[in-house]
Amino acid sequence: MAELTNGHIRLREFSELDQVRLAELCNNKKIWDNVRDLLPSPYTEQNALEFIRLCRQDVPTTTFAIEYQGELAGCIGLVKQTDVYRLSAEIGYWIGEPYWGLGIATEAVGLLTEYGFGQLDLVRIFTGVFDFNKASQRVLEKSGFKLEGVFEKSVIKNGLIHNEFRYAKLNPSPDHK
Ligand SMILES: CC(C)(COP(=O)(O)OP(=O)(O)OC[C@H]1O[C@@H](n2cnc3c(N)ncnc32)[C@H](O)[C@@H]1OP(=O)(O)O)[C@@H](O)C(=O)NCCC(=O)NCCS
Repeated sequence: MAELTNGHIRLREFSELDQVRLAELCNNKKIWDNVRDLLPSPYTEQNALEFIRLCRQDVPTTTFAIEYQGELAGCIGLVKQTDVYRLSAEIGYWIGEPYWGLGIATEAVGLLTEYGFGQLDLVRIFTGVFDFNKASQRVLEKSGFKLEGVFEKSVIKNGLIHNEFRYAKLNPSPDHK
């Protein structure tokens, strides 16, 4: 069972005990506004349970609960790509609103990229951020991700068209040159 920690936050497997709190934290329009429409909204306890069960099927674990001071504070995961992109993964994350501004996302991105490069042997971790999401852009910049480009007008969210900022970080190991 994978568990990643830096002494301040802990990334651990989701448990069905997280169901109620996960639904409380994730049922937030301020989170939904910054992620894909795929995230259910409203986000119910049933949605939370199904998500937890899906996460627990992954071996090795790729989606983690973020724990701060013993409490569930958010979620972070890697989606491994397929075919010729199979050494790449997309990173995605959200932090519950009561925990914003504490450096938790930056630490979680740091721990998970280290795990992705070290344990999953990935070569590249990437993601896309909507143009207006300055906090997430800052998280990625603080975590050593490089802005590779802007996909102009690639996103429609809440009926408005937006650019997407595409970021990536490469495995620094010389084995992956
Ligand atoms: C974006 C999000 C993950 C940030 O989580 P967090 O734990 O608060 O992030 P951190 O505390 O590690 O870092 C946030 C940084 O953004 C900065 N920031 C916050 N709001 C900002 C804004 N409106 N403009 C510019 N910078 C901003 C903070 O000052 C901080 O940078 P600093 O350390 O240089 O001061 C969180 O707000 C969230 O979950 N939002 C909704 C879902 C989401 O956006 N997910 C990511 C999709 S790509």
